[in-house]
Amino acid sequence: MSSALLDKIAKLKLIPVVKLNKSDDAKRLGEALLDGGLPVAEVTFRTDAACDSIKILKREYPEMLIGAGTVTTVDQAKRALDAGATFLVSPGIDRSVVEYALDRQVLIFPGVCTPSEIMLAASCGLSIVKFFPAGQFGGLSSIKALSAPFPNMKFIPTGGVSASNLLDYLSFSKVIACGGSWMVKNDLIDSGNFLEITRLTSEAVKLIENKFGTQLSGT
Ligand code: 3PG
Repeated sequence: MSSALLDKIAKLKLIPVVKLNKSDDAKRLGEALLDGGLPVAEVTFRTDAACDSIKILKREYPEMLIGAGTVTTVDQAKRALDAGATFLVSPGIDRSVVEYALDRQVLIFPGVCTPSEIMLAASCGLSIVKFFPAGQFGGLSSIKALSAPFPNMKFIPTGGVSASNLLDYLSFSKVIACGGSWMVKNDLIDSGNFLEITRLTSEAVKLIENKFGTQLSGT
């Protein structure tokens, strides 16, 4: 499993969660994210365009980190990896999906929101989980409470993250990154408003760079 990849995610601190209805939009979406300074995307398996979109993004932008999201079955995990995804994200935790990813030595961030799910993740050997849906399940105060009994677990809160609370989450040491769709909303993609995607992405990148004194482009 690539710790270099994990280091990059931890440095970027933000994973755009993308739903592409048409793989034809993948290239412009990738360009918009890169123009905004964020070379990473989680392409969700919420549409049939996911696999082709991952392939296009990998081909067009080899410098980007391309993961697959909403991976709920082993079959989806297999198709995502075969398409070129380099990390997997799940809304929940399923041992067979986690074990498949680990067998293929790929990073997987399964979704959790309870202590029992965190214990399941830990029993699979994982030390990083997606906390989902973060906003609805108590946000940062829940992550802090969960961190007390699970001090070795790190979190990627996703769900309800926005420019207004991103830095609150990222300021907590157990949060390695956040996931969010606010910069890549469906209506922006479907209406071809890639300039707005770049603007929102750049705004988020500047928040992170100013707070942490880092330069994300070139990561
Ligand atoms: C996800 O699948 O991770 C979420 O839909 C992202 O949540 P958000 O749309 O509230 O950012």
